Amino acid sequence: MEPVELNEGSYHLRQLRADRRLDDRPALIEAFADPAHRRYVLNYRVRTLDEATEYIALRLAQWAGDERCSWAVAEPATGRLLGEVGLRELDLVAGYAEAAVWVHPAERRRGIASTALDAALRFGFGPLGLRAVSYRYEESNTDSAAVARRCGFTRIGQEPEPAPTGEPLIRWLRTA
Ligand SMILES: CC(C)(COP(=O)(O)OP(=O)(O)OC[C@H]1O[C@@H](n2cnc3c(N)ncnc32)[C@H](O)[C@@H]1OP(=O)(O)O)[C@@H](O)C(=O)NCCC(=O)NCCS
Repeated sequence: MEPVELNEGSYHLRQLRADRRLDDRPALIEAFADPAHRRYVLNYRVRTLDEATEYIALRLAQWAGDERCSWAVAEPATGRLLGEVGLRELDLVAGYAEAAVWVHPAERRRGIASTALDAALRFGFGPLGLRAVSYRYEESNTDSAAVARRCGFTRIGQEPEPAPTGEPLIRWLRTA
């Protein structure tokens, strides 16, 4: 599908960009270097401008392939990148996705993740027609648990398989 922009009010949810007007790559590199980010977001390496360019291209390709809807969470007035939110493992036939979110370390604990995920869920349960969205995190990630709670997910319990870190993985679910 074509990427969709969302205007949440406090934040502008748009595609990640690397062009003359707006280059998210330095902020992406900063965020992915943060120890908490590295501990809990394991699938990507974004250490250089080239890796950041690839990351942005991957996200666009995932929109095109109906695999993942993702948004850069940006400050409306300046376009500055604050974080990213997404609906991954997208299955439009089953009406299912899994929530994904991170916030730049300098911008945490002021409600950005919860607000942005709320907007992504409204899009998921509205225009996308999803019926259920999971939220999974490592047990020690208490800020992530707070986001799941604030966004109206219900705690299902521990997954049978641990996370790749060896930590228990906790699953929450929200239905339409
Ligand atoms: C987990 C993560 C996304 C949370 O982002 P965030 O923007 O800080 O989250 P929020 O601010 O929406 O909520 C988290 C906590 O911040 C605090 N908070 C939120 N709004 C606040 C405000 N206005 N004033 C003070 N504290 C606030 C609260 O303690 C909240 O928990 P609570 O609901 O129990 O009170 C962020 O810590 C992160 O990027 N971590 C690294 C990557 C990661 O773990 N991603 C998730 C993988 S599952």
